[in-house]
Amino acid sequence: MTENQTLKIAVLGGTGKEGSGLAMRWAMNGYSIIIGSRDGERAAAHATEMNAKLGKNQAVGMGNPEAATQADLVVLSVPYTAHQATLESVKEQLQGKILIDITVPLQPPKVRTVHLPEGKSAALEAQALLGEGVKVVAAFQNVSAEQLVDPNHVVDCDVLVCGNDAEAKATVIKLVKTTGMKGVDAGSLANAVAIEALTPVLLYINKAYGIKSSGIRITGI
Ligand SMILES: NC(=O)c1ccc[n+]([C@@H]2O[C@H](COP(=O)([O-])OP(=O)(O)OC[C@H]3O[C@@H](n4cnc5c(N)ncnc54)[C@H](OP(=O)(O)O)[C@@H]3O)[C@@H](O)[C@H]2O)c1
Repeated sequence: MTENQTLKIAVLGGTGKEGSGLAMRWAMNGYSIIIGSRDGERAAAHATEMNAKLGKNQAVGMGNPEAATQADLVVLSVPYTAHQATLESVKEQLQGKILIDITVPLQPPKVRTVHLPEGKSAALEAQALLGEGVKVVAAFQNVSAEQLVDPNHVVDCDVLVCGNDAEAKATVIKLVKTTGMKGVDAGSLANAVAIEALTPVLLYINKAYGIKSSGIRITGI
């Protein structure tokens, strides 16, 4: 069996726009996907839909805590307003695992203006809440869900990846590659402040230029 076939990835909030796009790409690459939701039935229905599109049974769906229990690696893809509550609901289940936090702390209605939350960044808040037993890695904040809708579409942007555990970061950079994008090592988790803050800037650019999904590209590597 390849590593892809043995690694189970849970996407909490995988019923939503960003999470389902990423989940679909990983499923297409052979990863076992667990869709997590506040509602296990909604998650199961979403997984069934995914499997129908894939033509194979690569995904299952369940409630967030059960999804986090069964997974080897967990992705958090919920709005910032649900960030703390979702993390609290899976804190115990995440211990010893990698958590990829893709949350952007937007502050509606001013989503095109940078807003730093109390803990400076969502990923730093996640690490503080979960404790050192969880390897929090921040990634994908600057990738528009619009780009992920068609799983065969090649996304024209890079993914900044930051975290305090080098091995966990390397695992995530490898996972980014399987989505068709390039993961770039962007340093320690403290740098999530800048990465998360780029998203409102991209949302501003989208509006200013009448486009849906601007992205970032790192040159010179
Ligand atoms: N959309 C983008 O283009 C994009 C790009 C980069 C990063 N992000 C970040 O990715 C995360 C997810 O974005 P999204 O656009 O996929 O969000 P979304 O579709 O609005 O929500 C994702 C999922 O989160 C759960 N959820 C929604 N409201 C909730 C609440 N009040 N309490 C608990 N769970 C709730 C829902 O799952 P259940 O109802 O099934 O539990 C929902 O399907 C956000 O933090 C966003 O900033 C988004």
